[in-house]
Amino acid sequence: MAGIRSPIAVVVGHVDVGKTLLLDKIRGTAVAYREPGMITQHIGMSFVPWGAVERFAGPLVDRLRLRGRIWIPGFLFIDTPGHAAFSNLRKRGGSVADVAVLVVDITSGLEEQGLESLNLIRARGVPFVIAANKLDRIYGWQSEENRPFLFAVERQEWHAVAQLEEQIGRLIDQLSRLGIEADRYDRVRDFATQVPIVPTSAVTGEGVADLLLVLAGVSQRFVSKERLTVRDGPARGVVMEVKEERGLGTVADVIIYDGVLRRGDTVVTAGLQGPITAKVKMLIVPKPLDEMRDPEDRYKYVDEVRAAVGVRIVGEGLEGVVPGAPIVAVEGSLEEAVKAV
Ligand code: GTP
Ligand code: MG
Repeated sequence: MAGIRSPIAVVVGHVDVGKTLLLDKIRGTAVAYREPGMITQHIGMSFVPWGAVERFAGPLVDRLRLRGRIWIPGFLFIDTPGHAAFSNLRKRGGSVADVAVLVVDITSGLEEQGLESLNLIRARGVPFVIAANKLDRIYGWQSEENRPFLFAVERQEWHAVAQLEEQIGRLIDQLSRLGIEADRYDRVRDFATQVPIVPTSAVTGEGVADLLLVLAGVSQRFVSKERLTVRDGPARGVVMEVKEERGLGTVADVIIYDGVLRRGDTVVTAGLQGPITAKVKMLIVPKPLDEMRDPEDRYKYVDEVRAAVGVRIVGEGLEGVVPGAPIVAVEGSLEEAVKAV
């Protein structure tokens, strides 16, 4: 059975621009507006169902005429630390990320690691949107919790709007010197040639609705349906992190972007010395929030996971796996699998 999965959206940008807080805000919103039982949790990823977005962003969905037009099930967001860009998120011939959110501080524009992230996004051909965060820092800006940016900007004093325009203008100039055409998202005429800039505040939640809707639009237009179609075949993924866990030994936190991974599968991945083969002993995912009783009891064991998913693998032979390595489940011959890594 093939199906359409949520796009994997990576959040990148300079240190302290607000990537994590923005994701916290989005996640909090999704939890508040969810349909019961719809939140699935992941290792290293957060799932935001489209239903929650549509409920949260209702009036803006209508204003942008998006109601009934979104077919992606939601988003799977991956946070990245500002200093590491997302060099780990690589798969053969491209990136695991289907789309990217480049977060910049609206008061300081594109900074060093922001530029690095931008270069990586472009090199891997990942479609992206820019969140110009810390909108609440614009002098004189009147904030209102979770208000869409489009509605907020209509309610501001002229001097706050002037300040905003100046900051966005600077960002646009900066990008233009790098050969990137960008504009405030509501002024973009052609999404194929211009990168949309969405002013946001991770503190007040303003602009978060706009960001999610623009990201949905960009995902549907520029990520192919074929790429988002998952198969029932053997799992393919990327190792995000390898660590020692008390009582479990070496575990690998992995993002599976295609196929199904089952307990008992043999996986092939890469170590410094060459290919590594391991047997999957356990698959661990976080418990749904409503099943979580005790903060110590956060995880559950499952027999299989389907893409796209973030999962922790416990297995024999995972020592020495390098983060960023591809990982594939073996179906048929081991040689074939080794070639795929
Ligand atoms: P790294 O993971 O270290 O790269 O940083 P980050 O991009 O994840 O930034 P983080 O979310 O940790 O936020 C950094 C600081 O900026 C924190 O003190 C936040 O409270 C603050 N901050 C983030 N977003 C906003 C915002 O929209 N407005 C204001 N005023 N402060 C913000
Ligand atoms: Mg962070």
